[in-house]
Order: sequence, then structure tokens, then C-alpha cells
Amino acid sequence: MRLRRLRKSPRIREVFADTEIRTNKLIMPMFVDENLSKPEEIRNMPDIYRFPLRKLVDKAKEYDGLGVKSILLFGVPKHKDSTGSASYDKDGIVQRAVREVKKETDLAVFTDLCLCEYTDHGHCGVIKGRKIDNDSTIEIYAKIAKSYAEAGADGVAPSGMMDGQVKGIRKELDSSGFEETLIMAYSAKFSSSMYAPFREAVFSTPSFGDRRTYQMGYSGIREAIREMELDVEEGADAIMVKPALFYLDIIREARNSFLLPIAAYNVSAEYSMIRSAAKNGIIDLDSVVDESLNAIFRAGADIVISYFTEYLMKRRKS
Ligand code: PBG
Ligand code: ZN
Repeated sequence: MRLRRLRKSPRIREVFADTEIRTNKLIMPMFVDENLSKPEEIRNMPDIYRFPLRKLVDKAKEYDGLGVKSILLFGVPKHKDSTGSASYDKDGIVQRAVREVKKETDLAVFTDLCLCEYTDHGHCGVIKGRKIDNDSTIEIYAKIAKSYAEAGADGVAPSGMMDGQVKGIRKELDSSGFEETLIMAYSAKFSSSMYAPFREAVFSTPSFGDRRTYQMGYSGIREAIREMELDVEEGADAIMVKPALFYLDIIREARNSFLLPIAAYNVSAEYSMIRSAAKNGIIDLDSVVDESLNAIFRAGADIVISYFTEYLMKRRKS
């Protein structure tokens, strides 16, 4: 047997490739910022911007034209307070962005659902004493979910890692007539150093402590499965593993354990590290983008949320 027969030319390699980057399955994260009048590039994330509303809609239209299928929206509000009340304002920045993007494009629109961009202390939930209060936070998540659904979001993606959040959100959506709004749950979300560029971008670094009482420690495998199992039971439509590249084993566990769609979040510092190494001439950008994204699909992800989506779609068009 000569396995090299299957590798003998670019075309043969392409035809027999075992896994591939499925561009229809990429989700592009986007940031809309209520405080801006012009786009601002995010430090350490070249080509990724925070946009004022109108520019975000223009960019979304461009994505639509490039063949991008879906986006995941994050908001930066003007007003922050201790309970993150701007998050469920029906005219909040994300709610307005969803309405506009749905009106002007065919994109599927998902909204990240969390409080850390909206609280003045930067935690993902409300604080009682020095603790993040799980259950009262869920009541606020439910209000946010309803407001995103009302704005026309196809799905919400709760990322705060409160216990029971999927159940609380599902209940609220169902009882307010949004049975068809889906939940893509950040289920196995690890407390990771790889979110640093993101937190800087949306000003959500916690002002005290860290997120380790609600996000998972990176040593967990069985705990990750339990987290995913609970979200499945609570009614998640898709479950997510985050980050992606250091957690390929968890993606594979998810693939082998569940029948739901598995999403993986190729997070901010995964993007920054590759961009930075390429800029310094250490690696070739195109090859590493291909290899790393292929690895995430190969591990078993059905859907990949990646800041490289725009880059890839542009490259495929040109
Ligand atoms: C909000 C949220 C975070 C990310 C997605 N949703 C940050 C965090 O948990 O601190 C990280 C995304 C990235 O790094 O690209 N909870
Ligand atoms: Zn958060």
C-alpha cells in the first residue's frame, strides 16, 4: 500500500481531503459601540473594529455580499451601572443594531448575552456582598433575551456561565411568544487568559477579582461534559466550547457525547497571536489560518465563531 497515491497532486489532495473549513459554518463576531462616531480598530486585533451603528450595518451588508452567513453581535453601551440595566433597554445599542441588520441584510444574527459589557464592575452578573449572585442574574438575562428576540435576533448566545441560565432564558422566551428564538449556549466556557484583547476592546475587565467562580478551570474534562449535559437538558439548541485551540479535546468530547450542533469559539487572543506572529515573520498567515481552522473542524466543531471569517471569505473571493 502506498498512501502517497492519495497525495500526489493538489487536485487529488483536495478531492480526498478528510475534513475542510466549511465557510458556511463560520460566524463573524462584530462589535457595535454606542460611544463612537467613526470605526475604531481594536488594539492587538488588526482589521477588527468597534463600529458606530450605521457603520456596523454597512459592514454587515459587505459581509452579506461576501457570502458570510451569520454574525455574533457584541455591544458597548454608553451607560454602565451596577446591574447592567442598559443591556435590556429596547432601544439599546445591540437591540437597534439587530433591527437594522435584519432589515438590511439576509444574515443570521446571534447576540452574545452577558452583563459584563454593561456593568460598571465588569462582572458577568450582579453582585451581592463580594459574590456574583447566580439567581438574580438569571432574571436579568431573561429580560435581555426577550429584548433581543423582540428586536429580531435569530438566536441568543448566553455567555455568563450562571447555573441554570439556559433554563431561565428558554422559559422567558417561550412564555413571551418567542418559541422560535434559538439558544446557542456557551456551555463549556473556560476561565481563560485568551480573552484579554476582547476585554480590552469592550472594556469588560472585572474591576475586582476574576471570573473563576463562574467560568470553568482549564483542567476540567468531566466538568465540561457536565456543563454541556446540563445545557442540553435545559433546552439549548446548540452548545459551545470556548476557547477553541487549547480545547480541541473538549470539542471532540462534545462531538462524541452529544447529538446537538457543536460550536467552537476561536477567541480574541487566538486571533491576535496568529496575526502578531505572522506580522513578525515567524509564520505564514494564510497557512496558519487554514491549519488552525481546519483543526477546529477536524476536532468535531460544526460551527466556528472566528475573527478570521472576514479574512477567509475575502481570500476565497479574490
Ligand atoms: C462575555 C464574553 C467574553 C468573550 C465572549 N463573550 C469575555 C469574557 O468572558 O471575559 C470572549 C471572546 C473573545 O475573547 O474573543 N462574557
Ligand atoms: Zn460576561
